[in-house]
Amino acid sequence: MTTNRTFTMIKPDAVQNGHIGGIINMITEAGFKIISMKLTQLTITDAKKFYEVHAERPFYGELVEFMSRGPIVAAILEKNNAVEDFRDLIGATNPADAAEGTIRKRYATSIGENAVHGSDSNENAELEGSFHFAGREQF
Ligand code: CMP
Repeated sequence: MTTNRTFTMIKPDAVQNGHIGGIINMITEAGFKIISMKLTQLTITDAKKFYEVHAERPFYGELVEFMSRGPIVAAILEKNNAVEDFRDLIGATNPADAAEGTIRKRYATSIGENAVHGSDSNENAELEGSFHFAGREQF
C-alpha cells in the first residue's frame, strides 16, 4: 500500500466557476506531482457508489445530485505524506471554517459545494484512485 499518494476531484462547482487552473496551480505550487488526471463526469450511479460511505447521512441525496451535475477533474497526486498534507492544503469541509491560504477558503462556496475532494486515508486514496484510473493511466 502506497503512503505517498492521494486522490482528488475538482468538484462541479469549481469547474463550472472556472477554477480548474487556479486549483491545479495551488496543488503543484504546494509540491504535489500529478500522477493521473482527467476531465470526466460521474453518473448518478458512480456518485452513489463513490460516496457509499455517506449513504445514511441526511445530505447523501444532495451530495450525489451535486457531484453528478457537471464535469469534474479527477487526479492522483504524489508527495511525501500526501493524504495529510493534501487535507491541510484543501482546508476544512465547511469553507467558513477553512484556514487562510487553503483551496476551500479561496474557492468553496458552501459545505456541500466545497470545490475539492481529498482522500481521508491511504486506503481510500488507493480505492478512489483506482475507481477512476486504470493502472496504465497512473504515471
Ligand atoms: P468531501 O469531504 O469531499 O466528501 C463528503 C462530502 O459530503 C463533503 O466533501 C461535502 O461535499 C459533503 N458534505 C459534508 N457535510 C455536508 C453537509 N452538512 N451538507 C451537505 N453536504 C455535506
